Amino acid sequence: MKVRVLITGGAGFIGSHVVRLFVKKYPNYKIFNLDALTYAGNLSNLKDIEEEANYTFIKGDINDEAFISEIFQTHRFEGVIHLAAESHVDRSIKDPLAFVKTNIIGTLNLLNAFKDLWKDNFEGKRFYHISTDEVYGTLGETGLFTESTSYDPNSPYSASKASSDHFVRAYSETYGLPYVITNCSNNYGENQFPEKLIPLFINNIIHNKPLPVYGDGNYTRDWLYVKDHAIAIDLVYHKGLNEETYNIGGFNEWKNIDLVKLLCEQMDSKLGRKKGTSEKLITYVKDRPGHDLRYAIDASKIKNELGWQPSVTFEQGLEKTIEWYLNNKEWLDDVTSGEYQSYYENHYNK
Ligand code: NAD
Ligand code: TYD
Repeated sequence: MKVRVLITGGAGFIGSHVVRLFVKKYPNYKIFNLDALTYAGNLSNLKDIEEEANYTFIKGDINDEAFISEIFQTHRFEGVIHLAAESHVDRSIKDPLAFVKTNIIGTLNLLNAFKDLWKDNFEGKRFYHISTDEVYGTLGETGLFTESTSYDPNSPYSASKASSDHFVRAYSETYGLPYVITNCSNNYGENQFPEKLIPLFINNIIHNKPLPVYGDGNYTRDWLYVKDHAIAIDLVYHKGLNEETYNIGGFNEWKNIDLVKLLCEQMDSKLGRKKGTSEKLITYVKDRPGHDLRYAIDASKIKNELGWQPSVTFEQGLEKTIEWYLNNKEWLDDVTSGEYQSYYENHYNK
């Protein structure tokens, strides 16, 4: 009998890298990718593996309780790796309820279906919730988030992720559901939807459009290459301990403005433009409300206990990322047509 693993949100950015890794690495697993294909989900992210014998795509919404219950009863997933979410802070500021629905209620539907299926014997089963460092709120100029940092979310997005983390833990305490949670820092890399900082700015540089830096640009994030996150997820899924949380980060803090300048420099070089050309596109714009000053992860637990660490430097990862976007302009044009245009106009040009 094959091990049946459900990966939710597998058509999205991080999920597609996790699905690919699992499908290729574990031919003895049956990998089910459940995704609603929202604006952020794109099956072309998985074209290269869609015909594999151990891969099945299920289109569906985690908010649909009856449907979720039915697919758990039909396929009897022994493991769940839950990534499906509304994931963009700016959108959460405009429409918090969508985040409550998918990130909290959707997660509860999965927890309930998993519990109902295995409650008589949770042995060998695992519910893995993929979360974010944003649940910890903001840091000042110093310090790092550890696994014991108190939750203090500031955006509707991070509040919804914090809530779902709490529910996962509550289901363990109350019903004995075996779980593991990871809280990861900002990811970047191939297939990221161009609403997030790095792909948005790559796309704008390609089209000579302004680069909208929020506030003074002195906000700090800890950046991790997405394929290194996928490797960490594989490791935690297989070797992490039940009822444990692991922080995942890049040991790689950048102030936004410094990151944008590095990106401009690399883009000029790749596009054969004169040094300094792209930097001229930098435009300081109105700040994001409730903007967290700094995120930085202490990833020593996963490093010491599971032997994980990032495999590429930021410069290497960024170069691979830029090359991918330049070689996949069709992908970029496709995802920036339609809904994206009205999102962009509404958010940046109002
Ligand atoms: P994404 O927005 O690129 O992808 C989300 C995927 O979930 C999409 O394919 C979308 O179609 C799907 N989805 C959304 N709502 C759904 C629903 N109701 N039912 C079924 N599918 C639905 O997100 P991402 O950046 O890949 O993030 C994946 C997970 O990782 C999220 O849980 C996010 O909170 C977490 N995370 C992201 C980052 C980051 O930097 N991107 C960092 C840490 C943690
Ligand atoms: P983002 O990629 O949205 O990730 P998160 O908010 O989850 O950290 O933003 C990363 C940083 O870049 C954050 O400090 C906000 C900033 N930012 C801009 O300055 N301009 C933009 O247009 C965007 C999307 C983000």
